Amino acid sequence: MEGDTRSARFRPNRQVLETLRNTRAMGVARRLGTIDMDLVSRLRDGAAVLDGQADHGYIDDVAVHWARTGFRMTEEDKDTSYTRSLKQNVAIAKVTDESGLVSEAYRNTPLAAAVEDWRGVISRYADDLTLTRINFLTGKGHVLEHVDPPDQNMIQCLLAGETVFDFRTRSGRQSYRMKIGEIWWFNTAWPHSTRNDSDDLRLLLHTRGTLKDEILQAPEAEPSEATTN
Ligand SMILES: [Fe+2]
Repeated sequence: MEGDTRSARFRPNRQVLETLRNTRAMGVARRLGTIDMDLVSRLRDGAAVLDGQADHGYIDDVAVHWARTGFRMTEEDKDTSYTRSLKQNVAIAKVTDESGLVSEAYRNTPLAAAVEDWRGVISRYADDLTLTRINFLTGKGHVLEHVDPPDQNMIQCLLAGETVFDFRTRSGRQSYRMKIGEIWWFNTAWPHSTRNDSDDLRLLLHTRGTLKDEILQAPEAEPSEATTN
């Protein structure tokens, strides 16, 4: 059903529904390339330093973002099982802000240099790179099914741990298992959940950007697991 959201309390307006429809037309997943293991290590080492500083401010971050795109997140919504799973499992550290500037705390650190190199690599695939963040998901942690605001456009790379993204699409359930160092774009305007099957902390690097047209015209990635209805 169009306009399907993670909770009945979310009532996107007509404009958001239209954007969701258009965004979903872009497909589900594309595997863009890989970064080399040296860059993976540099990013991973930088992220480890942030681990103790990352907080669980993700919910408020999401609430602001959703409000901007017409969704409403009430105090009650913040206590749903979805947000509880986020609070229990996920911590997040922002490395750059919306304008792409390296935030003060990380300037002149090895992480800032590594993130700059990462952004250089993905500029082959996307324009208008803005926010970069590192997402920490506990071992055996999960994020329940939800729909992200339609303009997230996250380009992602797995640095440590494991991750599977499960999407519910018109053609059924499609799962994608990321490998370390792989660069992916996922269309999180489709209902999706994610989990870390390993015992290790999952480190996922995200940068927001707009995929180049030639990438959107390329074939979509095959799901890692069989599609079922
Ligand atoms: Fe999401």
